[in-house]
Amino acid sequence: MISNNMIKVRFWIIEVIVLLIFPVLILASGLSVIFDYLFKKQEKSVHGDVALITGSGNGLGKQIAIELAKKGCHIAVVDINAEAAEKTSKELIDAYKIKSKGFKVDVTKYENIIKLAKDVEEQLGPVTILINNAGMLTFKKFIKPTPEETQNMINTNLTSHFYTIRIFLEKMRELGKGHIVAISSIAGLLPCHRQLEYTASKFGVRGLMLALETELFAFNAQFIKTTTVFPFFLKTNAVVDELVSKIGITNLYPSISGEEAAKAIVDGIVRNKMEVFIPRITGLQYRMLGLLPTNWVLRFLNRLTSRQDLEILNNS
Ligand SMILES: NC(=O)c1ccc[n+]([C@@H]2O[C@H](COP(=O)([O-])OP(=O)(O)OC[C@H]3O[C@@H](n4cnc5c(N)ncnc54)[C@H](O)[C@@H]3O)[C@@H](O)[C@H]2O)c1
Repeated sequence: MISNNMIKVRFWIIEVIVLLIFPVLILASGLSVIFDYLFKKQEKSVHGDVALITGSGNGLGKQIAIELAKKGCHIAVVDINAEAAEKTSKELIDAYKIKSKGFKVDVTKYENIIKLAKDVEEQLGPVTILINNAGMLTFKKFIKPTPEETQNMINTNLTSHFYTIRIFLEKMRELGKGHIVAISSIAGLLPCHRQLEYTASKFGVRGLMLALETELFAFNAQFIKTTTVFPFFLKTNAVVDELVSKIGITNLYPSISGEEAAKAIVDGIVRNKMEVFIPRITGLQYRMLGLLPTNWVLRFLNRLTSRQDLEILNNS
């Protein structure tokens, strides 16, 4: 039997080889990005698919619903806000002549999602595109959440994804097709100041989606595609929009409209992109920062936020 020492020697030899060919891998990955940009992957058709979008009564979710409806997709508009869900669904039917229905559901409740799956299948058909978008972005007092608020943010932004994936994945496997999309955030790549819970929830979403890919491979179900989305600040949520304009982060890059973000997300879905960075350049920046020691990255992030900005956040 091979000794532990031999296993370690073999491990270090592999590490040295990887290190030696690393520049070639970087060059190849750069070329593949340029190649993808110049020769776009062919679009798949989503005409006639049923997309379920959580939190699509308002904001980014609603814009994604509009972009998918333009492509002939039927839409289950799911939101905790019944009125908003109904209104969005009516607007979609009137404008795009597709099938749509509003469903009042709190995505943090597992039993509600089981019922939702049954209702959507009866009324619109089986879900082939699942978009986990519903999110809690802020607390009543920005940096002083109650324990309940902390729990609610983790449940809404992360735990709900486990529930919907568990419930809707089975049918996709049966049908031999499907697409699962998760809206993470720039805060799922790098920490945002004074946003412990939000950052943790969005890093969690990234981890879940990567693990899901390995799960699909293990189950021989790679015909089910995944897309994880990392948007910079958006104009969709009024409270966040007001706050970021006060702290001046939008001087680095302007907030992005929901419509622009939704177009990039739907483009990512129809081209089976595993990751969508909005704006695209943040993906490259994040990968470059990944090569640096963590304490350098944190020092760089801390330099980006002034003491004055932190004061504004502390008092929000
Ligand atoms: N606004 C930004 O700057 C920004 C940036 C990056 C990522 N995101 C992410 O984009 C997604 C959408 O954000 P948005 O800006 O459109 O926010 P929004 O507040 O405008 O919309 C969120 C929607 O989710 C619904 N919702 C909240 N809790 C729910 C629950 N428990 N069950 C069902 N529905 C629920 C709300 O009613 C609302 O309609 C979120 O996941 C957010 O974290 C937003």
